[in-house]
Amino acid sequence: MSETTSQIAVPTSVEADILAALGPRMIVLVGMMGAGKSTIGRRVAARLHLPFTDADSEIETAAGMTIPEIFEAHGEQHFRDGEARVIARLLDGGPGVLATGGGSFMREETRRRIGDKAVSIWLKADTDVIMKRVKRRTDRPLLQTADPIATVNRLLAEREPVYGKADLTIASRDVPHDRIVDEVIAALHAWLSGSDAATTSVSAAP
Ligand code: S3P
Repeated sequence: MSETTSQIAVPTSVEADILAALGPRMIVLVGMMGAGKSTIGRRVAARLHLPFTDADSEIETAAGMTIPEIFEAHGEQHFRDGEARVIARLLDGGPGVLATGGGSFMREETRRRIGDKAVSIWLKADTDVIMKRVKRRTDRPLLQTADPIATVNRLLAEREPVYGKADLTIASRDVPHDRIVDEVIAALHAWLSGSDAATTSVSAAP
């Protein structure tokens, strides 16, 4: 190779850098119901030309039942055991982007598996954003309570310290989806390149 050629820095795209550093790992989105894990996950996957998988849909397919039906027929514990098994299987299918159900990261065993086989991103949303997105839907059994706002606040208090163990945190808020996707891509790039910039990826309020 000539000296001139070897000195030219070959430009690589941010997306190509991410894919090269990611290897076979999954990019896993964690966080509360209504945080936008599936919406943002699908767009991040498209940006990186990776397959997208939604763990809740996979659980429903594996069980041949909807999530409310599983809760109703077998209870939450049964759902959680199935959820852990399905996520363990999906983590072996990387590289790809995986949106997980809001309670799955609470299980230590699942967090450990995600730590081994994925880069995790917490999409952090506050109560107002969550309520706006979940209020007209009845497909989340945990929110079928007399006071869903109080339920969301209780779940946030229990879960936020655990979600905070994810590798990266991005504030999910009412801005165009592509802005959140840009932030996820930038944070992944910084983190996978070992740059300190990753630690500043928590977005400020709009
Ligand atoms: C749950 C979140 C739901 C689903 C189930 C329980 C939770 O997934 O797994 O209703 O415990 O937070 P989403 O976070 O995708 O809504």
